[in-house]
Amino acid sequence: MDTNIARRNFMGRLAAVLGYASLAPLGLSAQRRGRQEAAAAVKSALDKKADYDKFTKLANNENPYGPSEAVMKAMTDAWKYANRYGYPDGGIVEAIAELHKVKPENVVLGCGSSEILKIVDDAFLPDHKLVVGVDPTYETVYRYATNSKAKAIALPLTKTYDADMKAIIHATKLNARDVGLVYICNPNNPTGRIVPKDEIKLLLDSIPPDVPVFIDEAYHHFVDDSNYESSVKYILEGRKVIVARTFSKIAALAGMRLGYAVAPVEIIDMLKPLVVSYNVNAVVKYGGAASLKDIAHEAKMKQLNKQIRDRTTNELKAMGFEVIPSQTNFFMVNVKKDVAQVGEEFQKKGILVGRKFPPMNEWLRVSVGTDDEMNRFMKAFKEVFPAEKTTQSKA
Ligand SMILES: Cc1ncc(COP(=O)(O)O)c(C=O)c1O
Repeated sequence: MDTNIARRNFMGRLAAVLGYASLAPLGLSAQRRGRQEAAAAVKSALDKKADYDKFTKLANNENPYGPSEAVMKAMTDAWKYANRYGYPDGGIVEAIAELHKVKPENVVLGCGSSEILKIVDDAFLPDHKLVVGVDPTYETVYRYATNSKAKAIALPLTKTYDADMKAIIHATKLNARDVGLVYICNPNNPTGRIVPKDEIKLLLDSIPPDVPVFIDEAYHHFVDDSNYESSVKYILEGRKVIVARTFSKIAALAGMRLGYAVAPVEIIDMLKPLVVSYNVNAVVKYGGAASLKDIAHEAKMKQLNKQIRDRTTNELKAMGFEVIPSQTNFFMVNVKKDVAQVGEEFQKKGILVGRKFPPMNEWLRVSVGTDDEMNRFMKAFKEVFPAEKTTQSKA
């Protein structure tokens, strides 16, 4: 048999065995078709992105103003590390350690705080069956727990939409042997409520000291309630506490992906082997370090957020809607209608709002945008909930 035919037959049989359409090199027209398909896919992705760009984005609790000038400059300068990276860290770990008055050994960086949430689960849940927390909360920790086949004891909120600390303590003590982690989102996403400092202390004093308490402080910077404090101080006291922070919120670096955990050295030593090597890129390390120094920008973001949040929520309350008092850059309003449907109505008007957070199915979570964005939101809100219905909802 002609060797070429024999080769083609062999390749055909191998392709059939492997389940591939063909192992023969692509012909020119197939290559062209492939490129055309790829170009079409890129165009469709760009079109979707252009569509997304047109929306007023009040769904993800991001900072609507963007990073400060100093942060942009630090990131722009750091592009020089793109090819010969040399693994510089821009002093970010030292800057975080200095901020919290801990040692660099107390810090691990994550590709966003999402990576921190994952590795804390990975570290503490394989040998345990349970994570204790509230419902609703930022449920990523519960989702990652399933990797270890662990389950969440997700306790209902109180009538004021706060964490029920007595219930958390009770559930933890009752299941102490099986509890690998207690997760407290403080302030809580999606409610915007804080857990007061006395209750955090009560929790730590009440549960067995070997149960790690994981406190997610993603929205720490927006809080101005004097009953709130960061839990980093308990790490300095030698308690088994892990605090997660992110640069995605007040620092406006959500797309750049940077977060970290502060914890006792023994815990950081457990967490470090679980991250991907070099998980954080040079550009955001420099940007993050610059943002920690830019206290004026942080204060401005906090003040603008509070001013615009309070103006919007006061307006909603004046219309007769119940709003949960928030300490964050988002708030929940009771729309007395299924939020999935309400979300679609807003989307038709070019506004993206928060998804449904069961069991609070009729509470809409709205991220605080700029003045303009919130004006657009209020205009749409009045269209979705016209005055006569609003009056009814008051009754
Ligand atoms: C409470 C909380 N924790 C963690 C995250 C994850 O943020 P990132 O991975 O962008 O740091 C979010 C994001 O919205 C959040 O709301």
